[in-house]
Amino acid sequence: MSEKNEKIKLSVKDKSYDLSMHEGTIGPEVIDISNLYSESGNFTYDPGFTSTASCKSRITFIDGEEGILLYRGYPIEQIAEKGNFLETCYLLLNGELPNSEEFTEFSEIIKNYTMVHEQLNRFFTGFRPDAHPMAIMCGVVGALSAFYHDSTDINDPEQRRIACHRLIAKMPTLAAMAFKHSLGQPAIYPKNNLDYASNFLHMCFGLPTEESKVDKTLAKAMDKILILHADHEQNASTSTVRLAGSSGANPFACIASGIACLWGPAHGGANEACIKTLEEIGSVDRIPEYILKAKDKNDPFRLMGFGHRVYKNYDPRAKVMQKACHEVLDHLGVKDNPLLSIALELEKIALEDDYFIEKKLYPNVDFYSGIVMKSLGFPMEMFTVLFAVGRTVGWVSQWNEMIEDTSQRIGRPRQLYVGSKQRDYVKLNNR
Ligand code: SDX
Repeated sequence: MSEKNEKIKLSVKDKSYDLSMHEGTIGPEVIDISNLYSESGNFTYDPGFTSTASCKSRITFIDGEEGILLYRGYPIEQIAEKGNFLETCYLLLNGELPNSEEFTEFSEIIKNYTMVHEQLNRFFTGFRPDAHPMAIMCGVVGALSAFYHDSTDINDPEQRRIACHRLIAKMPTLAAMAFKHSLGQPAIYPKNNLDYASNFLHMCFGLPTEESKVDKTLAKAMDKILILHADHEQNASTSTVRLAGSSGANPFACIASGIACLWGPAHGGANEACIKTLEEIGSVDRIPEYILKAKDKNDPFRLMGFGHRVYKNYDPRAKVMQKACHEVLDHLGVKDNPLLSIALELEKIALEDDYFIEKKLYPNVDFYSGIVMKSLGFPMEMFTVLFAVGRTVGWVSQWNEMIEDTSQRIGRPRQLYVGSKQRDYVKLNNR
């Protein structure tokens, strides 16, 4: 980030203030308002932070108008096509793609952290079998801070590094344990001779009674899903992790806060909500009825998987996900998947409709992801858990970047107060 020589003048009533401008590598310049309140006595007002940059970051860049997504400068399409999730983890954490020696070392580190403390098993028996797996993940990930005390000191770079590695390694194990719990099946231990995505599918679909056999094409699709979900700049859950981390909370607690935020249907929960919408529509000929509902201001119905705060163009991840959808279904020999047929027709009709065109509403990452996840054998309750498994590396990378940023302080927004003026207490019998 460099401070531009030019200042901009802000006039408030009869006073004016000189504000600095900063420019990044690419993307919009920013107006620095950090001293505005102390100088003017005024706050800025930006609910939803539509026009607010909360930090400076080197990790992910999004151009919403052009539909561009870069991980440390590399286009998501190229990483999804040519890379794998574990090297993407290395890239997001360290800033560069690993060479073969670095990748081998990193893979060994992560593999040796995939098991969880055996006593964590007891947490799962406390949940009802029908507990939503995201509820379980909120609980057990936060509980990791009760087991790994040697990686909770956020001021120790080595402990932060270990915590990041532990979280990346253990999320698939915990996610699989939550899935197995819902099935009433025993948890399957990770296997060190499997790659990350294959290991996850092995723990989810393996049985103690059979030798593990993971389909390579399905594992590749799983790996791609994790890459597409790995990071996305300052989205709601990442901002939650940063805000929690700014208080000095330990990394496990911070990631648990990110999981909680991701669960919402407006955010990571949209993949589950989108499948529910497609199933509710049920057939292509009912699409016009639902398009009308989506456009009706008086109807709370929204087309889940459509629209985005930043993308006012096609989400590049949705294109890659749609392609993965076709690949998986072709591999499984599924000629006509009714949900995919509805999704494709829904997208076609919506993108030709003035309402969606004017509001720049396009499919986002969640529009096709549920169909792929369902085809891999996951129930829809697991979809946001898979999102969380992929996003953990983004959360820990952003959290670590924030801790290392000496200019970062505890996040503490202010407000526009519209409540009662000061008034005196009235005793109960006088009210
Ligand atoms: C993710 O931020 C990230 O990067 C998130 C994410 C990540 O990787 O971390 O990309 C992952 O969360 C993707 C988004 C998943 N959510 C959904 O698919 C839920 C459906 N989409 C929306 O609810 C909505 O589009 C949001 C929440 C995604 C964005 O909301 P905004 O930016 O606050 O936009 P808005 O709600 O103000 O909508 C603008 C207009 C409104 O109409 P007006 O009030 O201007 O008349 O567009 C309409 C909305 O009613 N609109 C929709 C719509 N999304 C927006 N109308 C119908 N269907 C929709 N899906």
